[in-house]
Amino acid sequence: MSGHESSYEPTNAFTRWLDSRLPIIRFAQDHAMNFPTPKNLNYWWTFGGILAVCLVVQIVTGVILAMHYSPGVDTAFASVERIMRDVPYGWLLRYIHSNGASMFFLAVYIHMFRGLYYGSYKAPREVLWVLGCVIYLLMMATAFLGYMLPWGQMSYHGSNVITGLFGAIPIIGDTIHTWIMGGPSIGNQTLQRFFSLHYLLPFMIAAVVVLHVWALHVPGNNNPTGVEVQDVEKETVPFHPYYTVKDAFAIVLFFMMFAVFVFYAPNVLGHADNYVQANPLVTPSHIVPEWYFLPFYAILRAITFDVGPIPAKLLGVIFMFAAIAVLFLLPWMDTSKVKSMRYRPVARQFFFGFVATCLLLGWCGASNPDDGVFGTPGKKLVVSYTDAGGAEITSEYDGGGEAYLDAKKFVESLPAGTNASISAVAKPTFQFRHLSLILTFAYFGYFILLFFVGLTESSKAVPESIHKSVLKRSKPSTATAIPAE
Ligand code: HEM
Repeated sequence: MSGHESSYEPTNAFTRWLDSRLPIIRFAQDHAMNFPTPKNLNYWWTFGGILAVCLVVQIVTGVILAMHYSPGVDTAFASVERIMRDVPYGWLLRYIHSNGASMFFLAVYIHMFRGLYYGSYKAPREVLWVLGCVIYLLMMATAFLGYMLPWGQMSYHGSNVITGLFGAIPIIGDTIHTWIMGGPSIGNQTLQRFFSLHYLLPFMIAAVVVLHVWALHVPGNNNPTGVEVQDVEKETVPFHPYYTVKDAFAIVLFFMMFAVFVFYAPNVLGHADNYVQANPLVTPSHIVPEWYFLPFYAILRAITFDVGPIPAKLLGVIFMFAAIAVLFLLPWMDTSKVKSMRYRPVARQFFFGFVATCLLLGWCGASNPDDGVFGTPGKKLVVSYTDAGGAEITSEYDGGGEAYLDAKKFVESLPAGTNASISAVAKPTFQFRHLSLILTFAYFGYFILLFFVGLTESSKAVPESIHKSVLKRSKPSTATAIPAE
């Protein structure tokens, strides 16, 4: 709420002197202490504060890790192992930093879904939302760059896959790919530039967070009803102590959960292959990114067919970037006048469908695209032979070892000269690649549905049972006594 009056009164000669030169205490009081905040914010609104703490934790642990890390193909892996074994509390710093990235993404996803559910992206908060999307992009870039630094197998082969995506861009793709890697392949020069950028980007995130909170403080917070604050006196409380205490409580709970990962399961969110030093000659059988990228990875791999002149790989890249780009456009795609999904029963169903779609896309991203969704695709045996007229005939045998014996017996029973052969063929099943494709359409479908639902939504008449009694109470002069139950 940009227009709220400053209530700061300097209390001594020094603060009066400072206030007329640099009103920094006034600024902090107005924006962090006395800021009028809706009374009805629920716990989903504590994630902004949680995110701010996550960013600080990542920067502090990262700066200390960088004091011991050495970016070079011959030294990076060993320096990380030294941090784990020899640097005092190095293991703790590293586990906080690596699990901290996961916690940061967990919190940001909750924060974003909160915004989606309560319509916080709508006017007058479009700039706030777009700045959030910029932060999210920067976070993805930072996490990707950071994952390369330990120079493990997944670091190397994962970054090979992702930088390779730029090669799919027509005409200039190869040039961009080489430019990013700093040479014809991923090597020392790539590791050094990734380290430099990984150190830089969190500070850019911090700068955009300042803009984000500034853009929040102009219109003020949205709230679970999605109805703007009508009366600042009656409907808001000062941020301190009400929300500082509530946010602090949530931060403590969140960090207890974080601590469980750091102290009891520090590697559960990572991949064992990254404890093997990078070897360009040995590609891991299953390259997967960190969990927070899995839905986008599934979208990237969902497109396995060319469409006209556009090759499948390029189309996958386009869909993956479009999945993020669509978030930027959302404030202008959803035209409904109602913000909160609390009061949008149809859109609410789609919202929960969208959450399920994102989770299932994550499952697809973690799975081998050729595997069957309902179990690994089995094999069936196909016997092919030519009959007396020269026509090719096939017959199928399904089942375990029995099927092989049956097929063999059948082949032996055929007359000579029929060119009989037995081959094993994968049974057509519903594979993860098929599910990914369906879910990719569901993902984009959500935004298209929101667009149309927003255009057609109209409010229902207020049920008599409610409005009669409300009207009676709000107009006491004309009110008749409310009948006893
Ligand atoms: C480093 C990451 C981020 C930090 C530190 C951060 C911080 C904050 C803070 C402190 C608030 C006010 C408290 C709250 O509403 O929870 C807020 C609100 C908001 N943030 Fe973020 N944010 C981050 C990322 C994002 C992202 C990625 C998005 C969306 C793409 C986003 C969208 C919003 C929106 C729409 C609000 C207004 C909520 C409302 O008033 O209803 N933020 N953010």
